[in-house]
Formats: sequence, C-alpha cells, structure tokens
Amino acid sequence: MRILIATLLLLMAPQFACANEGGLKLLKADVDLSDQASLQRGARLFVNYCGSCHSAAYMRYNRIGADLGISEELLKADLMFTTDKVGEPMRAAMPADDSKEWFGVTPPDLSVEARARGEDWLFSYLHGFYKDPSKTTGVNNLYFPGAAMPHVLWELQGVKRAVFSTHTSPEGMQTQVFEHFENEIPGTLDEVQYERATRDLVGFMVYMGEPAKLVRYALGVKVLGFLFIFFVAAYLLKREYWKDVN
Ligand code: HEC
Repeated sequence: MRILIATLLLLMAPQFACANEGGLKLLKADVDLSDQASLQRGARLFVNYCGSCHSAAYMRYNRIGADLGISEELLKADLMFTTDKVGEPMRAAMPADDSKEWFGVTPPDLSVEARARGEDWLFSYLHGFYKDPSKTTGVNNLYFPGAAMPHVLWELQGVKRAVFSTHTSPEGMQTQVFEHFENEIPGTLDEVQYERATRDLVGFMVYMGEPAKLVRYALGVKVLGFLFIFFVAAYLLKREYWKDVN
C-alpha cells in the first residue's frame, strides 16, 4: 500500500511543482481538452487577441479546422486574418521588426509555449497583470515581472491594482510580498467569465503545443472500449468452459 501511495505521489509530482521563482503559487488552469466548444472559443480568442503580435508557426489553419471541427467557411470568416489559404501557418499580423521596435523584444512564437511554460503558468500569467505606471505598457505582471507585453485582455478583465506588503527578515532584508488584487476599472467580463475565457484560451494553447493529444484521447477511449468488450467476452467464455467442470 505504501509503495502504491508513493508511486501515485510520484506520478502527481509535476502538479506539485507549482510555485514559481517568486514563491508565488500558480493558479490552476484545469483545461479540458475533450471540450471541443471550449477549444473553439479559445482559438477565436487567440486569433483576435494574440495573433496580431504572436505567431504560431507550427500550426496550420486547416489542421485546427480538422481537429476542432470547424468548417472551412467558418475558419475563413472567424479565424483567418493574416491569410486566405487554409494550408498556411498562423503568422503574426504585425511584422517582427515593428514589434521589436515598439516593445523592445520580439513577441515569441506561441506554438509550443504551453509545453515550455506549462498550462498553469500561462493561466496565471493571464491573471497576473496589474497597473504599474512606472512601466511603458502601464502594467506589470506578477508571474513575469517586467514583461514587455501589454495587458491585451484588459477590456475583458478590467484593470487591477496589486497590494503588496513589506516583510523584513531577521537580517533586515526587505521583500515585497504580494497580498491581493483590487479592482480599479471593471472589465466587460466578470471574474467567472474571465476565468472561463482564459481557460478556453489556455486550452487552445495546450492543444496547439501538442495537437496529437486530441488523437490520443480519441484512441484511448477506443482502446478502453475494446478492452472492456474483450473482458466481457473472455469472462463469458470462461464461464462456458468451466460450466461442466464445476
Ligand atoms: C501588442 C502585442 C502583443 C499581443 C497582442 C500579445 N502579446 Fe504576448 N507578448 C508580447 C511581447 C512583446 C512579449 C515579450 C515579453 C517579454 O519578453 O518581456 C510577449 C510575451 C508573451 C508570453 C511570454 C513568453 C515567454 O515565455 O517569455 C506569453 C505567454 C504571451 N505573450 C502570451 C500572449 C497571449 C496568450 C496573448 C493573447 C491573449 C498575447 N500574448 C498577446 C506582445 C504581445
């Protein structure tokens, strides 16, 4: 039993590794890749709010259409702003030189960002923006201090103020510890709606980082179904064989 528990804990280890450098706990994204409607909403958010600066060069529109059940007409009408060819990868609308000039850094390609950072980090990042007049973008981020990215979802989430308290260690070292957020300007979405929207968006990015995951899910269900049917058949056979023996 103890070994079993230890094994289970080991399997869950990546979920425990949830604190980032600042000792801040990450929020839980809880994405559900089997929820196709959520992934579709996430795709729409991605192209509308992220695709202007970020590319996702490993992702092609027709693959998204096929995987997420979006017809070609809808793809073209809803998701494709930078090209009209469904076989094209997702390019950023803004030329990299321009964004480099404006933000000082080129917005990175986000194809495999969810794998690089983890879904909880991404979710937290989208919840981590707060007002900071000392920054050129007017905001800072709790999970990515000094990030050069503006809070592009601010109209949805609104603007938050972060309340920090100052802790002094026995050695006299002072550190700022995050306490909580306060609403400064309300957004068009309430807290729950913003959580849902960012969960959809992160879900889409997780899918993007590993599109084969969706295939594996579908395959997994089939395999389990097969095993179940096989088990029932084997059991019935066994009963049939042993009937006369007993
Ligand atoms: C106006 C341009 C712009 C838009 C729109 C934008 N970003 Fe960014 N993003 C940036 C820039 C610039 C950086 C680089 C920040 C840095 O390194 O300081 C960045 C960085 C990031 C990072 C961190 C990358 C890393 O690991 O270092 C993530 C994640 C990210 N963006 C996600 C998003 C998502 C999701 C959206 C859509 C909701 C979005 N961005 C929309 C400009 C943008």
